[in-house]
Amino acid sequence: MDTAPADGPLVDAFGRVARDLRISVTDRCNFRCTYCMPAEGLTWLPKEELLTFEELARLLAIFVRLGIRSVKITGGEPTVRADLPTLVRMFRAVGPDLDLSLTTNGVLLDRLAAPLAEAGLDRVTVSCDSLLRHRFAAMTRRDALDRVLAGLRAAEAAGLRPVKINCVVIGGTNDDELLDFARWSRETGYEVRFIEYMPLDAERRWRPERIVPSARILEAIGAAYPLVAVSGSSEPATTYAFADGAPGRIGVIASVTEPFCDRCDRLRLTAEGCLRTCLFALEETDLRGPLRAGASDEELVAILRDATRAKWAGHRIGREDFVRPGRSMSMIGG
Ligand code: 5AD
Ligand code: SF4
Repeated sequence: MDTAPADGPLVDAFGRVARDLRISVTDRCNFRCTYCMPAEGLTWLPKEELLTFEELARLLAIFVRLGIRSVKITGGEPTVRADLPTLVRMFRAVGPDLDLSLTTNGVLLDRLAAPLAEAGLDRVTVSCDSLLRHRFAAMTRRDALDRVLAGLRAAEAAGLRPVKINCVVIGGTNDDELLDFARWSRETGYEVRFIEYMPLDAERRWRPERIVPSARILEAIGAAYPLVAVSGSSEPATTYAFADGAPGRIGVIASVTEPFCDRCDRLRLTAEGCLRTCLFALEETDLRGPLRAGASDEELVAILRDATRAKWAGHRIGREDFVRPGRSMSMIGG
């Protein structure tokens, strides 16, 4: 069968059903993490190329009709998009039952957490790669650890829970902090998710030797604080609780060493309105053109079905035929 099914949820040729959509709302960022962006930033999209709030809400309504159940708002840094709480309110109106979360560097959360929660956001995932001020500053090129920690407290106070932390582990850079992060998780109750370093940095500094395999991370933490697997999570993160009942959780996202492509239920929408079926996809499908040319909902549905249908089996990192995508992380949306 070559054609996409005419009804039902969005499904690809391997039978994977899309349930999770990551929506990038800007390509800009106020950090310059070394594993993502160059120090001088990138060439930002002109404003008129970004999908408007109305366009985003219209697309989301179609995605929800097609079975999307969870939405993560991403960037760049999503909180630099003006008036983000208004967009969250519009998204919530479109999907009252959606699991609606935000992936952020956290630096603006001290003032945005409360309005975002009030607008209907469920929870946040905050990137934090070091608990040491100087290392945090070196990795993000911003001396902002205190501000991020304040943002985390504001998120908790606003009820944006469970708070999750994304920590990209880079061998020789921050892999000596695993136990500190585990202790922090036990103290705060945050779920700390360790992400394997992926070849998506704009400066192409990525080297396979710098990947710290998730299995090694779990071994190191488990030796100090025994862990028990938490079943039932459909996320790419494999999640563990502390065996002694301490609060907090440890997660690992083993994108490189143990790819989860065969269970992938994600789609991605870039800030300028392209659908990407994989982080590492080499092709994308323009939705903004048809949207602005007056396409009907049914026409957009047909485009989404065909694009989803064509999703490939999985990434090829580590294989000879691996080709890095032209976009780096902040231009895709994480
Ligand atoms: N490898 C792994 N994770 C990355 N992120 C950004 N760049 C990379 C990379 N090269 C993470 C960010 C953020 C999430 C959206 O993606 O830290 O938490
Ligand atoms: Fe910004 Fe996130 Fe990229 Fe860091 S990883 S530069 S916070 S988009």
